[in-house]
Amino acid sequence: AKITFVTSDNETIITEATTGSVMELAVQNKVKGIDGDCGGVCSCATCHVHVEPAFWDKVGAPSQLESDMLEFDDNVSEYSRLCCQIDVSDAIDGVVLNVAK
Ligand code: FES
Repeated sequence: AKITFVTSDNETIITEATTGSVMELAVQNKVKGIDGDCGGVCSCATCHVHVEPAFWDKVGAPSQLESDMLEFDDNVSEYSRLCCQIDVSDAIDGVVLNVAK
């Protein structure tokens, strides 16, 4: 799947992968603002992204655990996701994710 990240500096980074999590993909591609400090276990919120609204249905809503974690972040929006909780797959091909500040 092709996944595009837009950083808070407005840098666009287009990535491509077939497996793993979106957080891992961002870290591999050195996307600024995605740190993945907890290693992808939904407990740090350093992988926070705002899904571009047009792609929200493709990506889907967060789990309860993830929503609870997002509540600790002040910059949360209705399109917030923790991208370690999004699996790379063809289902999300083409999505655009805005890295949270
Ligand atoms: Fe820690 Fe996603 S990498 S919550």
